[in-house]
Amino acid sequence: MTQTLFTPIKLGDLELKNRIVMAPMTRSRAIGNLPNALMQAYYAARADAGLIITEGTSPSPDGLGYARIPGVYSDAQVAGWKPVTEGVHRAGGRIFVQLMHTGRVGHPGNLPAGARIVAPSAIAAPGEMWTDAKGQQPHPVPAAMDEADIARAIGEFAESARRAIEAGFDGVELHGANGYLIDQFLNTASNARTDRWGGTIDHRIRFAVEVAKAGAAAIGAQRLGVRISPHGVFNGMAPDAEMDAMYLRLMDELNAIGLAYVHVVDHSSMGAPEVSVALKAAIRGAFRGRYILSGGFDAARANADLDAKRGDLVAFGRPFIANPDLVRRQRTGEALAVPDAGTFYTPGERGYTDYPVAAAA
Ligand SMILES: Cc1cc2nc3c(=O)[nH]c(=O)nc-3n(C[C@H](O)[C@H](O)[C@H](O)COP(=O)(O)O)c2cc1C
Repeated sequence: MTQTLFTPIKLGDLELKNRIVMAPMTRSRAIGNLPNALMQAYYAARADAGLIITEGTSPSPDGLGYARIPGVYSDAQVAGWKPVTEGVHRAGGRIFVQLMHTGRVGHPGNLPAGARIVAPSAIAAPGEMWTDAKGQQPHPVPAAMDEADIARAIGEFAESARRAIEAGFDGVELHGANGYLIDQFLNTASNARTDRWGGTIDHRIRFAVEVAKAGAAAIGAQRLGVRISPHGVFNGMAPDAEMDAMYLRLMDELNAIGLAYVHVVDHSSMGAPEVSVALKAAIRGAFRGRYILSGGFDAARANADLDAKRGDLVAFGRPFIANPDLVRRQRTGEALAVPDAGTFYTPGERGYTDYPVAAAA
């Protein structure tokens, strides 16, 4: 096995100590939608990664669709994130926040008073959503956003990006994957609009592009990346005949803005259809910034893909849950602990901050 994973790399204007990224993972420990000391300990323990990307974090009260996910729009949330970013920096790491607006993937029972479930079109997401008060509930039909709603949401993304930098984050990842609000605009399964925000490729990518432009204006394109999941089926997304062309068109627009990276999700390791090798290669060829690979990697496959130039960095998700010292274990080849899926989203430290580091060799 080669050791490319452990070599430094520039991402935007940042120097990362290695090419290992901790993938964004919702862990639902943010009681009251506020970051806290438990989260500080969790992230600081994983600061050996070249870059940590936080759990999905809402830019808006409307985007807090899941129970106990954090936001980064209020003063209290910014104050809560500061010790988290400081802890990671003290431990020698770098940390981006992932901005996730859940859109139609939510339930009013999870939202603060006055917030709304909104989406491009009034089409409910399939399935159910967990609420702490009433257990599983069907996804409601969202309110179709009007021009003012769309302008407000774009503004919320930009303002939250600015607040994220104020909270000490090194940058921001826009969550354009997995069926959340940005993806809801991209995908014909959730976007049935016939105005300038839906229909043609150029119309469907407009929301993603406008959010990226506004985010870049707020914090600089070099501190901004985007996550995408072509052909993903999570949260009711569905492929269509124009999908590959749409993602390539989106890459052109993101090139013009100068984003630092694109982070491509392939969830075939979790049962989703595989993203075609041809599309991944085409995105890699089209996009001028860095390319982060993700989905079902171990160190050997990561090194092989980096050496084959399929990407520049590799994100690891589930392995980081159970192995706070993942980077050290990858270096030494020590066995990895297996995460307990039963505690992925439960409150408290069990299955969160109580995974041991391996005994020093
Ligand atoms: C518990 C859990 C929570 C997740 N939450 C998010 C999230 O908030 N944002 C996101 O983009 N992906 C999320 N994902 C997907 C991961 O980032 C990653 O793409 C996925 O786990 C596949 O990578 P892996 O095989 O290395 O785990 C989540 C995955 C898990 C297991």
